[in-house]
Amino acid sequence: MKIFIDSANLLEIENALKKGFISGVTTNPSLLAKEPKSGFEKHIKKIVTLLNKYDSKLSLSVEVFSRDPKEIIEQAKRFKKIFKYKNLSIKVQIGWNELEAINTLSKAGISVNCTACMNVTQALLATNAGARYVSLFWCRIRDGALDKPQDVVSATRKLLDEGKSKSEIIAGSIRSVEDVRDAFIAGAHIVTVPPKFFIPMVEHFKTTEAVDQFFKDFTAWQK
Ligand code: E4P
Repeated sequence: MKIFIDSANLLEIENALKKGFISGVTTNPSLLAKEPKSGFEKHIKKIVTLLNKYDSKLSLSVEVFSRDPKEIIEQAKRFKKIFKYKNLSIKVQIGWNELEAINTLSKAGISVNCTACMNVTQALLATNAGARYVSLFWCRIRDGALDKPQDVVSATRKLLDEGKSKSEIIAGSIRSVEDVRDAFIAGAHIVTVPPKFFIPMVEHFKTTEAVDQFFKDFTAWQK
């Protein structure tokens, strides 16, 4: 069960890297748009510098910003060239035209994270086209009310496993600690989590109570 951080914020990424529990970073144009306007390429290079400093085995997903297959392929190849990060995955949105780009990039040995997937059929087309990751948007699936996210994730996982697919499901669009839990239970290989949920994922009032009691008893015993 791998946890990725869903953020383009350098401080949030570094704080998570220091604690050693993340296996990757996912960004998207909206997350980048929250950061200072230092320039897209310059900002991604700063993330790459952080990953190289802490653990260059971690996955980094950077999204293209085009719907045109030729432009997608050009952007992807440019990202690979300028970011020089071995574990870079190119995020390409699912779509009829985009499948050509996903397949071309995969055949060229470029890892694709097929993103904005909302149902089983999108995920299956993406994996068959060669996507390394299929990103299922947990809460946006729920917002759409056509399917339950847990059904989409568990059905996709079942079919990927039966097909012995090497693709991994990333559950994104997470809005609570319960979403993280439920996405893993449903069968997501990876959940990409907004960093604001990391502390709530680890804190529990009964843990605090127990540890306070341990220290209180130990202190009393030492007197
Ligand atoms: C994954 O990286 C997705 O881009 C991200 O989780 C989407 O989240 P949102 O639905 O809150 O935009």
